[in-house]
Amino acid sequence: MTVRREFCLRVEILRDPDAVADRAVEIIRETIALPAPVLGVATGHTPLPIYERLRELAATGLSFSHLRSFALDEYCGLGPEDAPSYHAFLQQELFGPVGLGPDQWHAPDGLAEPDAEAHRYETAIRDAGGIDLQILGIGRNGHIGFNEPGSAFDSLTRRVTLSEDTKKANKRDFPPGQPVPHEALTMGIGTILRARKLLMVITGETKISALSGAIMGPITPDIPATALRLHPDATILADEAAAVGLPRI
Ligand code: F6R
Repeated sequence: MTVRREFCLRVEILRDPDAVADRAVEIIRETIALPAPVLGVATGHTPLPIYERLRELAATGLSFSHLRSFALDEYCGLGPEDAPSYHAFLQQELFGPVGLGPDQWHAPDGLAEPDAEAHRYETAIRDAGGIDLQILGIGRNGHIGFNEPGSAFDSLTRRVTLSEDTKKANKRDFPPGQPVPHEALTMGIGTILRARKLLMVITGETKISALSGAIMGPITPDIPATALRLHPDATILADEAAAVGLPRI
């Protein structure tokens, strides 16, 4: 029998997405202040206000010169030149504007042979000394990274098949006529749990059931985000709109 230790997950409910971003940036700045920080980053719409603030801080003098960063995931079949790729997203929204060079940040290569690339990426994270702080969003189905429901909690970076729900949600990021890829490379749940701190951001009414599923009820691979409760230093920042119906203390 596997015995899992459940830790106390911190959940902060904040007024709105701006308040979530302000608080997230406070936490991220603690990591950036480390001597050799490694930051794991998510794509998607939820972290955009965070990246906007980090760009503003860079413009007003905060140095990112010692930061190294790893992206959570990437679509198979898309390269940096493809606008909907996560590589392009991160270059445009964060890494380019804050001045991170190509040797400072990493994303899985969506054009490489997926299984070998997954192994290479997992090794690169380990060789960097692991991730100090991993930023996460959550899918409406409770996914983290592209770890869809049913993903093992000890899974490592690997090729995964995207659920219909995820492809439908992400269609908004693709031009008309370009299908959302069926597969992606993602850090595994085990990879994510090895980060020294986890920070999940959840905003908006479309995430009400994802948030309650993540923090209430059983810890189960059917809701990948419940794995955060197995991490000793995990925080969820949610806005009021996502937290409707949650019991308050
Ligand atoms: C992004 C990622 C996904 C998103 C999730 C939520 O790198 O891995 O898990 O965090 O799909 O996306 P948004 O924030 O667009 O709702």
